[in-house]
Amino acid sequence: MADFEYRVSEELVNRAEQVIPGGVNSPVRAFNAVGGKPPVIAKGEGAELIDVDGNRYIDFCCSWGPLILGHAYPQVLDIIIKTASNGTSFGATTAQEVELAEMVVNKVGPLERVRFVSSGTEAVMSAIRVARGFTKRDKIIKFDGCYHGHSDYLLVKAGSGLATLGEPSSSGVPEDFAKHTLIADLNSEDSVAQYFEKYGNEIACVIIEPIPANNGLLLQRKEFLTFLRDITQKHGTLLIFDEVISGFRVGWGGAAESYDIQPDLMTFGKVIGGGMPVGAFGGRSEIMNVLAPLGSVYQAGTLSGNPVAMAAGLETLKVLEVQDAFNKLEELGAHFENELKKQLSGKPLCVVRQGSILWFIRQNNAPASAAEIDSEAINAYNKAHRQILSKGVYLPPSGYEVMFISLVHTKEMLSKAAAIIGEAF
Ligand SMILES: Cc1ncc(COP(=O)(O)O)c(C=O)c1O
Repeated sequence: MADFEYRVSEELVNRAEQVIPGGVNSPVRAFNAVGGKPPVIAKGEGAELIDVDGNRYIDFCCSWGPLILGHAYPQVLDIIIKTASNGTSFGATTAQEVELAEMVVNKVGPLERVRFVSSGTEAVMSAIRVARGFTKRDKIIKFDGCYHGHSDYLLVKAGSGLATLGEPSSSGVPEDFAKHTLIADLNSEDSVAQYFEKYGNEIACVIIEPIPANNGLLLQRKEFLTFLRDITQKHGTLLIFDEVISGFRVGWGGAAESYDIQPDLMTFGKVIGGGMPVGAFGGRSEIMNVLAPLGSVYQAGTLSGNPVAMAAGLETLKVLEVQDAFNKLEELGAHFENELKKQLSGKPLCVVRQGSILWFIRQNNAPASAAEIDSEAINAYNKAHRQILSKGVYLPPSGYEVMFISLVHTKEMLSKAAAIIGEAF
């Protein structure tokens, strides 16, 4: 198979760089970690992407997680067109948002009330405001290696121990904004306990990706998550599970259900919008009712609960239900994991997988915290990326990013992709 050419993509990227910072509207799309210019995408068909030069790729990015049904799934597309033909936004209540809210509350155990926003960032930002309003406390604990969107006080550099108080990791974030953010280490009871000893009754919430998937896939011990539930309960602190990636991806009730832990608040995005801009946050009514117009915590959005986006999300969830999707995704995930292990046998390799979320790294032990990731192994991935791309496999453009499998990936595609990856390594 001849390697791909990118003439039209390169032209467009050059033009983009003249008018958009770095040529992209979200940084990792620029391919800085893996080198070379990114292909410009013309369309998606099922599990495949086609770029403007006509190159076709098996897609393992799936728009960074939302596309659990693959691209342009006919039923989702139909409902988007039908809903949009009645008008695209009203700024008033619609049946679509009521139905999606009912579905989400019915499916996700810990939720009694849910509110929709337009991105995961907004969902997390709003959930934290609710936690602070409800507890009347300011401090929050987040974990090194967990990403919760780009709001100011969550862009805080990771570090260790009590010394690491709110040091922003993005310029443009005043230290004052980040000073209430405490950074703990994943998988470490001690690092969390220290903060509670020092600041116990000042901590509004602990927020974690229960399946941390933004710095590799750092699966946590159930005992660690249970410890977080216990210590937060003991101190009147809320536990927030950020399920923007894991929600409706690893099963109906997300990680909360798979670990059998009841967080106080949960945040969603990605799958819940069926490829449209949607986020959501929810929890028990007692907590969620602090929100305006019932309570004093203000939160709002012109396009929140947008009918077209709600309809896309609702239809996606309905398809997942009818298709018995989570069992099928588990089977596809297991197949891909086995194929990768076969193709990369004899070399240091960890394939870490939770259902249809998968990450591989060429090191011997599966890391459970950011510090355990071998940066050389990440470099090896980044170096292999271009060759894999030019053979028709679209991997996330950084070794720290996870892969997503959709319901319409076939076992043949997965075997083929594993062979191409194996060859490149
Ligand atoms: C766990 C988690 N939370 C929040 C976000 C932010 O979501 P968005 O990019 O929709 O703002 C992301 C994005 O990847 C995420 O993975």
